[in-house]
Parts: sequence; C-alpha cells; structure tokens
Amino acid sequence: MASLSALYLQALIIMSCLVFGLASYSPLSPAYYDRVCPQALPTIKSIVEDAVRQERRMGASLLRLHFHDCFVNGCDASILLDPTPTIDSEKNAIPNANSARGFEVIDRIKAQVDKVCGRPIVSCADILAVAARDSVFALGGPYWPVQLGRRDSTTASRSAANNDIPSPFMDLPALIRNFKKQGLNVKDLVALSGGHTIGFAQCRVFRNRIYNETNNIDAYFASKLQATCPRNGGDSNLAPLDPSPAVFDTKYFSNLLTKKGLLHSDQALFNGGQTDKLVRTYSTNSFAFSKDFANSMIKMGNIKPLTGKKGQIRLNCRKVNY
Ligand code: HEM
Ligand SMILES: *[C@@H]1O[C@H](CO)[C@@H](O)[C@H](O)[C@H]1NC(C)=O
Repeated sequence: MASLSALYLQALIIMSCLVFGLASYSPLSPAYYDRVCPQALPTIKSIVEDAVRQERRMGASLLRLHFHDCFVNGCDASILLDPTPTIDSEKNAIPNANSARGFEVIDRIKAQVDKVCGRPIVSCADILAVAARDSVFALGGPYWPVQLGRRDSTTASRSAANNDIPSPFMDLPALIRNFKKQGLNVKDLVALSGGHTIGFAQCRVFRNRIYNETNNIDAYFASKLQATCPRNGGDSNLAPLDPSPAVFDTKYFSNLLTKKGLLHSDQALFNGGQTDKLVRTYSTNSFAFSKDFANSMIKMGNIKPLTGKKGQIRLNCRKVNY
C-alpha cells in the first residue's frame, strides 16, 4: 500500500516536472492574449477557416509561412517584410520567390485582430504561429496550444533565408544538420516533414527527381509526373506533395514506403537510413504522427523568439514601424 502511494507520488512529481519544465523552457505562454484580447485567437481561427474554405491549399501555404519564418533568425515575422531600400526581403530568397504565398490572408487577419482588440497588441509572428495551427486543424490535423508572446523583427535577411531554409535537393545527412542548426533533432525532422501531407510543389523542384533518380522512385509514379512536368518548360506546374493534399493524414509517409515521395528530400527520409523506422511508424500510426507533429511544431515555434523589449509589434505586417 505504502509503495503504491509512493509510486503515485512519484508519477505526480514526474508529471508536474514535465508541466513546469515545459513552461520554463519557453518565455512564451499560450495564455498571453487571454486577458488583453480574448477575441484575438477566435478571430484568427475564423479568418483561417474562411480562407481554407475558399481554397484548401491556403492551409498548406500558411503552415509553410510559419516554417519559413522560424528557420530564418527565429519566429519573428521577418518573412512578411516587403522589400525597401533598407529591407532585403526574404520574399526574394530562392526558397520563397514565386513560391511562398498566403501574405494577403495574414494582412486580413492582422487588420481584423487589431480592430477587435482595439489596438495593435498581437504580433505578426504570433499570427503566423496561430494561423499555422488553425490551418492544420482545419484540414483534419491535430490541435495544440500555441505558445504566444513573440514580437516582430525590424530586419529581414534574404541571405539567411537562402542559407537556412532546407533545400529539396538535400540528402538525409544535410537535412539532419540543417534541423540541428535550429535546435531540432532527427525526430523533429521526420515529424515536421509530415507537413508535406498537405499542399503542392512546382515542377522545377521535382524535375530532376522524376527524370534522373531511377533508383529510389517508383517508375509508374515518375512517368505519371512527367506528364505534368516536362523536361523543358512548365517550371511552375503543380503536383500534390501526397495523394491527398487537402487532408492532414499519414499518406505522405505510406507513400515514402513505396518510393513515391515527390521531393528528393522527402524520399531521403526513407532510403535505407536511420529515419526509415520512424517513417514506417508514422505511416501506420496517425496518433503517433499527430502527437509528434504537434510537439515538434511547438518546438519549432520556440526558435529564438523576440520577447520583452526586443523587436516591436508591427502595425502592418509588411512594414517596420517608424
Ligand atoms: C525538411 C525539409 C523541407 C524541405 C526541403 C521542404 C521543401 C519544400 C518545397 C521545395 C516545397 C514546394 C515549394 C514550391 O514548389 O513552390 C514545399 C512545400 C511545402 N512545405 Fe516544405 N520543405 C521542408 C520541410 C517542411 C516543413 C518542416 C513544413 C511544415 C511543418 C513544410 C511545409 C510545406 C507545405 C505545407 C508545403 C506546400 C505549400 C503550398 O502548397 O503552398 N515543409 N516544401
Ligand atoms: C539529369 O542529370 C543531368 C546530369 O546531372 C543533368 O544535366 C540534367 O539536367 C538532369 N535532367 C533533368 C531533367 O533534370
């Protein structure tokens, strides 16, 4: 009896360590706007739902914006700044140019949130984080408490965007190194790559794979894609990243098992390396994928946030305040 309650106490201590450990791990908090503007989060959610209802792909585009923000000097909305004589916009970086989308939805959210809150207190960086979560949820994915309280940058870096956003031509060791640089581990890499269960990619990023990579690609899959993506031209023609690009499911992973990953970097996660095992797990266990994806999204959202007196709360997500 005594040992049983001791065990119970031990479990309680471990659990509270987890809870408080998590809280102290980040200077951010999910309750950040609860008192100052309780309508902020519901407002973001309803605009995201609207946008996704109009175009399912928008959910994917908004998820990707948060990722591309966080990997470049932290989650500080630097990706949203338009070019000016002093801003070398990340929108012009190779991974974003003619590719990153959803900026108008973020503008709409920002205007409406500032209106319902009566003043500009919600940062553009937090809007990106919440919009990513609400997008995933709207497409049938997991829901997680988004950590909040990030502030917005006053600078952007096109060169950092070029250096730090992973390339679709990377092999597994390069992808692992790229994520490690952000404080993310191999499990985070595999779970977050599952973001490719939604959305599309352009011919130019998978052309080499479907014509040249005969070893680790399903031949029929490659030949079908060649119809959408000719050897010459059609650079911006789209193909879905998995067979159900508007549903957050595990098909991204099950496709890797049959060598039907669209990007070289997707198939790199299942090509005889250390991540094969986790890809297999996620391919049949949507609960494990959802849980790990949510955890890794929180971790990604915690990359180098600006807090306290650092940065600012932008009035317009595209511009630095004067
Ligand atoms: C692991 C390294 C990654 C690489 C190399 C990579 C690369 C790419 C590329 C090349 C595209 C297609 C862009 C285009 O053709 O316009 C894309 C799309 C996308 N990526 Fe990734 N990505 C990675 C990780 C992630 C992560 C971590 C997330 C989110 C958690 C994510 C979410 C998305 C989404 C949702 C799309 C579709 C966007 C749309 O349809 O507008 N990716 N990615
Ligand atoms: C296939 O690889 C060769 C040699 O690297 C390259 O020159 C060619 O452009 C590639 N083909 C496609 C369609 O990407």
